[in-house]
Amino acid sequence: ALRGSFTSKAQKSSHRSQYHLNLQASYKVAILGAAGGIGQPLALLIKMSPLVSALHLYDIANVKGVAADLSHCNTPSQVLDFTGASELADSLKGVNVVVIPAGVPRKPGMTRDDLFNINANIVKTLVEAVADNCPDAFIHIISNPVNSTVPIAAEVLKQKGVYNPKKLFGVSTLDVVRANTFVAQKKNLKLIDVDVPVVGGHAGITILPLLSKTKPSVSFSDEEVQELTAKIQNAGTEVVEAKAGAGSATLSMAYAAARFVESSLRALDGDADVYECSYVQSDLTELPFFASRVKLGRNGVEAIISSDLQGLTGYEQKALEALKPELKASIDKGIAFAQKQP
Ligand code: NAI
Repeated sequence: ALRGSFTSKAQKSSHRSQYHLNLQASYKVAILGAAGGIGQPLALLIKMSPLVSALHLYDIANVKGVAADLSHCNTPSQVLDFTGASELADSLKGVNVVVIPAGVPRKPGMTRDDLFNINANIVKTLVEAVADNCPDAFIHIISNPVNSTVPIAAEVLKQKGVYNPKKLFGVSTLDVVRANTFVAQKKNLKLIDVDVPVVGGHAGITILPLLSKTKPSVSFSDEEVQELTAKIQNAGTEVVEAKAGAGSATLSMAYAAARFVESSLRALDGDADVYECSYVQSDLTELPFFASRVKLGRNGVEAIISSDLQGLTGYEQKALEALKPELKASIDKGIAFAQKQP
């Protein structure tokens, strides 16, 4: 079973709840952009989940083959394919979790914001369909720039009168996955033990790993903090450059997105002990959207964990103030885009 493979010991250790995995697969998950670099391995990982009864794969092309291929795995979920705008609505009916990795990825030299013009329209169109067909679903936005596409999605849902801030998530899990990996390597810790909260947003300096809040408690020199912070912030660009024009992170992203889906399904299934970092509507700072640890429950975000922002080091406090103007500009850009649309 997949349960456990995405969750660190640190995450699980707080309060062991009475939760037992309900082996009755019963949730429907849709992936929009399922034939892409992220979509395909993400579909494979979700196909392995014992909690999923149906996996709906939607893309504008090439999704039939992906679905036929995946459907031969002898795991519980039924795989269905949906191609093109005329089948989008059907792909969303009855779905509990919608994951959106549709859009173009970066090429070397590009920032995530350079993707705005293309991906903003894609996300807007897809979220309109989500609003019309499964307004109660958890919505996981992967398409970049996440700092702007999540505010766009919120505006679209508001315009449709179905916005529930507790169920709209920017997927920033990959930043946590990277931080955990790099910290474990640097400090020779067992990977399964390490959990680093990452707050702010999902681009450049807006990605703020709170190394002082690492579990298990571990101390870093000033140089280590600077080096690790920069490595975590630039990890996506490192992959873009290594792929040299063939795209951005897909496999580690699929792993991270599958972890976030699995956490969401466990929360829907009644596990009372599910925590993840995510970029959500937030009152932690003066910004309307902010990534932090959140507690997930049946109704989505049950609580935003404020304690991580208390007792920051001087370095973290400065970095937090420094990221706010950029994050605010990205949020405002997304809102302005959504509001000027007819
Ligand atoms: P890709 O180009 O390999 O796949 C994108 C897929 O989206 C393609 O199959 C394409 O046909 C599909 N698509 C395009 N327009 C669509 C529409 N209107 N409706 C449905 N599907 C549509 O790109 P990849 O590598 O899978 O990346 C996808 C997105 O994820 C990019 O925006 C990338 O920047 C973002 N990303 C986000 C990360 C994060 O941490 N949140 C990390 C890595 C990538």
